[in-house]
Amino acid sequence: MDKILVHGGRKLAGRVRISGSKNSALPILAATLLTKEPCVIHRVPDLSDIHYMLTILSELGAEVERASGTVRVRAENITTDAPYEIVRKMRASVCILGPLIGREGEASVSLPGGCVIGDRPIDLHLKGFEALGAAVSVKSGNVRVLAPHLKGTNVSLRGKFGSTVLGTDNVMMAAALADGITIIDSAAEEPEVVDLANFLNKMGAKIEGAGSRRIVIEGVKELHGAEHEVIPDRIEAGTFLVAAAIAGVNVTLTRAFPEHLKAVLDPLGQAGFHIETSADQVTLKANGSRKPLRLDTEPYPGFPTDMQAQMCALLTMTDGISVVTDNVFPQRFMHVAELKRMGANIELNGGTAIIHGVPKLEAAPVMASDLRASAALLLAGLAADGVTEINRVYHIDRGYERIDDKLNDIGAQIERVKV
Ligand code: EPU
Repeated sequence: MDKILVHGGRKLAGRVRISGSKNSALPILAATLLTKEPCVIHRVPDLSDIHYMLTILSELGAEVERASGTVRVRAENITTDAPYEIVRKMRASVCILGPLIGREGEASVSLPGGCVIGDRPIDLHLKGFEALGAAVSVKSGNVRVLAPHLKGTNVSLRGKFGSTVLGTDNVMMAAALADGITIIDSAAEEPEVVDLANFLNKMGAKIEGAGSRRIVIEGVKELHGAEHEVIPDRIEAGTFLVAAAIAGVNVTLTRAFPEHLKAVLDPLGQAGFHIETSADQVTLKANGSRKPLRLDTEPYPGFPTDMQAQMCALLTMTDGISVVTDNVFPQRFMHVAELKRMGANIELNGGTAIIHGVPKLEAAPVMASDLRASAALLLAGLAADGVTEINRVYHIDRGYERIDDKLNDIGAQIERVKV
């Protein structure tokens, strides 16, 4: 198991190229199961979560080839039972359900357990499948969905924490091959949902309204192969912007879409950072005084829960009192205890962190608990006094492509050590 050593105090300057989006690529790869014909997906990031998804596709019988960022999938003959051993490693495996029931009329996947960021139920996914006419049963930790005849329907996917991203993806994929018209209300509006809908439409689906709260899907008889390029990862981009805010002089992100980043750029601007954008670039200059913030995570277009931990890292070193509430995953604060080990002053009150800024953090050995929490610790280490040692870094490799190399290219000093 690797660990990461971050030598604090180095200044960041230069250009970083943003990779393809993990959370777009995962459901898009699952969607290749909807057709027997070959699909070609470009800018697929090299991450362990992507590797799990490709393994699941192979185990289901698809031919999968990968050459750098391009993945070719041909799912000519497939089975519908996903192997527990791989599925259990990644919650996003659940998004193979929609394509399998759409194409084969049945699927069996082991139920994802909770994870450190919360319970993460899939009741809304199942509600959508049932509304389409599927019979759902949960037995011995497996979800079995039988759907010999999917029929278009009206369904609201609103849950108590708002919309569901993978739930919207799953129902949209199943409905693409249902008989008649499906209307999803309270759909997730995330850019990753739009990217999936664009790919499905290239495959011959008839989907309108993705990116709004109401998606209308006119079912078609079959889908065909298609080629697609995954959108840039807005959470990777946001993470590098916070790195620049914490330790930067002047950092430019290339292949980043500013229109997907508004909810991150606005608070960084309010906090005192100078930001310039063009069509596919963002520059952050870390000049001027920093101000504390009040942040509430919400589904898109609100401030993303996937950026909450990283912003907490920045605010620990921002003079004044900041208040950060996670309304999407109220338990997603595993980074707080670790940041406190580095000298941060944070009180946790339910789903709200009250952060009293301190002038400096001090390096300490810390433990990564989940993907975004590990990113937050790495960012905190960039400005801490001394060498921060981050253990269990496999979490960070699930969702950031070569983050240590990319940060080193702009001036950081990060080592990866085999233990
Ligand atoms: N929820 C339910 N019932 C459901 C589904 C979700 O109550 O059936 C709740 C969840 O427990 C949560 C909220 O609804 O409180 C939102 O969850 P959502 O379903 O939108 O999450 P997800 O689709 O499972 C994706 C991302 C997560 C990201 C969330 C929220 C992927 C592969 N994952 O998960 O990304 O945090 O949306 O934006 O797209 C990450 O990349 O670090 C990550 C965790």
